[in-house]
Amino acid sequence: MPLSKRRMLFRSLRLSLRFIVPLAAALAILAYAVVPLVDRLYLRWSVRDIDIRVDLIASTLQEPLTDLLQQGNRSKINALFSRVLRDERLFAIGYCTGGGSMPYRTQTFPKELDCATPGLSADKPGIMLKLPEGLVHVAARSMAAEGLPSGTLILVHDMRFFERRSTDTKKYIMLLFVVLGIVISLITVFVAHLSWRGWMEGVRAMLRGEGILRPFSRSRNSELEPLVGDLRNLLRSLDEERRYADDATIWWNPDTLRGLLRKQLTGDQVLVVSNREPYIHVQGKTGIEVRRPASGLVTAVEPVMRACSGTWIAHGGGSADREVADQHSRLPVPPGHPEYTLRRIWLTQEEEAGYYYGFANEGLWPLCHIAHVRPVFRNSDWEHYVTVNQRFADAVAEEARKDDPVVLVQDYHFALLPSMIRKLLPRATLITFWHIPWPNPESFGICPWREELLQGMLGSTILGFHTRFHCKNFLETVDRYLETRIEHESSTISHGSMLTLVESYPISIQWPPPWQQTQPTVEECRDWVRRTMHLERDCLVGLGVDRLDYTKGILERLRAVERLFELYPDLIGRFQFIQIAAPSRSVLEDYQALDSRVRSLTEQINKRFSRGSYQPVCLKVEHHEPEEINRYYRAADVCMVTSLHDGMNLVAKEYVASRDDERGVLVLSQFTGAAHELHEALIVNPYHIEQTAEALFQALTMSEFEQRERMRSMRGLVRDFNVYRWAGRMLIDAARIRQREKLSVRIGRSV
Ligand code: F6P
Repeated sequence: MPLSKRRMLFRSLRLSLRFIVPLAAALAILAYAVVPLVDRLYLRWSVRDIDIRVDLIASTLQEPLTDLLQQGNRSKINALFSRVLRDERLFAIGYCTGGGSMPYRTQTFPKELDCATPGLSADKPGIMLKLPEGLVHVAARSMAAEGLPSGTLILVHDMRFFERRSTDTKKYIMLLFVVLGIVISLITVFVAHLSWRGWMEGVRAMLRGEGILRPFSRSRNSELEPLVGDLRNLLRSLDEERRYADDATIWWNPDTLRGLLRKQLTGDQVLVVSNREPYIHVQGKTGIEVRRPASGLVTAVEPVMRACSGTWIAHGGGSADREVADQHSRLPVPPGHPEYTLRRIWLTQEEEAGYYYGFANEGLWPLCHIAHVRPVFRNSDWEHYVTVNQRFADAVAEEARKDDPVVLVQDYHFALLPSMIRKLLPRATLITFWHIPWPNPESFGICPWREELLQGMLGSTILGFHTRFHCKNFLETVDRYLETRIEHESSTISHGSMLTLVESYPISIQWPPPWQQTQPTVEECRDWVRRTMHLERDCLVGLGVDRLDYTKGILERLRAVERLFELYPDLIGRFQFIQIAAPSRSVLEDYQALDSRVRSLTEQINKRFSRGSYQPVCLKVEHHEPEEINRYYRAADVCMVTSLHDGMNLVAKEYVASRDDERGVLVLSQFTGAAHELHEALIVNPYHIEQTAEALFQALTMSEFEQRERMRSMRGLVRDFNVYRWAGRMLIDAARIRQREKLSVRIGRSV
């Protein structure tokens, strides 16, 4: 018998023993109670039989005995008694006269008995006595005849046969109980074995998300069905409790993350795939320069990669990128103190135009952000998108040292990548994180390749969004357009043999902030900004930091600033708004249009409210390095984040992190993921210009005490829910799924 079957049988036996031991005890008790009962019953029947025999013998002897008594013929009486004694059960006979003497008796008549034996009375049922000879039945019957004084016939029956039978009966009853016990035990083991198998198959199916969970499936396990919901709830609440315990007790930092990889993922290789690279090499005036892109994705994933020391695969888009990479397109980063490898993928201009500018940014970006810019879908863009996704999938397979790496796929540029990687590395754990919002099914439905995109994403082991709301939208979209099975309780999607967990992981930033040790003081930052912008020392400063993108609500923000000056003219000359706008996707028409609209609105506001050299809005459409942006954050009295729709928005969290003086106010759009976490910000609807202007005024006039209270609370949240926690939670879930998959393979083999 194979080992797995032996193991299962052993488990069934162990299970059955829990039933068999009490059963054996119960049977033994029963046997001991039943035997004396049966004994007593049998004795009663035997005595009744003997009494009948006594009556029969007495009535048979009546006539010959009275004759012989009348004759007084002793020898004939003895002969008569001897004849009767041939009956093997009859042991002795005696005759008592009315005076109580016993003139006639057989030799066998026990000397312990006489005519006055206590309990013996004529014509009554006999009595049982234990004599040295053994157990006997003694009965008396009257012998009356005309002309004769009354007498009594005493009949003594040998009851040893009863003792023999009683011993046999006990033996047989015990034997019967033993056999009964064995038969019941065998049946129990057999039934337990079958049930165990059934349960195991059911639970295994549950692990795979099959069978019993399918409402109309023929293979339903009706025994488990009522328990499925409870079992799932239990597992989920255990999972959640564990996750909560993990979250509550772990202080997330790079070391925790490294430890997690070592322990839970036993040092498995981590690969990251994103379109945007963390370091861009460009030809500058003085030679090759390194740039950090304005990207929330890079801000979040870079510290994680530093902790994991894996390989980051990204598009090499910088003008000097090829020059610094080796012949395998790899280079160690960060420059100067390397901690992980950057693998660059080279794209032709056509590929970049079709995949990145076209399908990703003219199609998917406006499709997922409801920001009133229409998506554009072209066949040629789609073809490039497919080709480039395949290129990245091939690169992942090349970089994988084993067949089961953990791959973190980033964002909407790679919706097809998960299923492409899955084909090349079926055992890989794929965590896809969608950094932008996921729209409702109707909005997503306008994409001509909606099914292909969804199928591509469902190659993921885990699919992460910033908020539960985006997860819900995604589940509903899949439900609408694909044939899959969705489990809302566990937030999983089953399709083919794959199971994808759809979960929310709100992204965050590094904590403590990277410049903590080297950054200038808040006072120095305030002085620096006011000096370089020629502002009065007490001039209030408002700040916006974004890529120049129509989803960021920059126009709405500027309109709110304009309205502020209209409503509170006292602020003219006392309030400066600085808008840092990193140029982005500027080859696209919509972005060019936005650029010119932002510039002309800025001009318009400045024209209306400038006084001498004072220009109320300072627009800086240029790239800024993160350290510089941090100085602006520290100098700003208020930071405005007014996105029309945003997955998370890390500017909000960066601003909070930069304010170790616990000063400054955050005005935050209700349409950002961050608004679900940073409740102490002044939450606004950016479409409502007056409301945003009033919030801005409230921020500029807020007491120091209130600023501190709000900022302290938000800092606590960003500190605890930092980017290491974001990555850690995904990796913990991945580790758990990997373990579960290994377990199901093991259980699967044992069937
Ligand atoms: O918001 C999605 C996102 O990928 C961010 O992570 C990042 O801020 C931005 O888009 C990057 O855009 P791009 O790489 O096109 O400049």
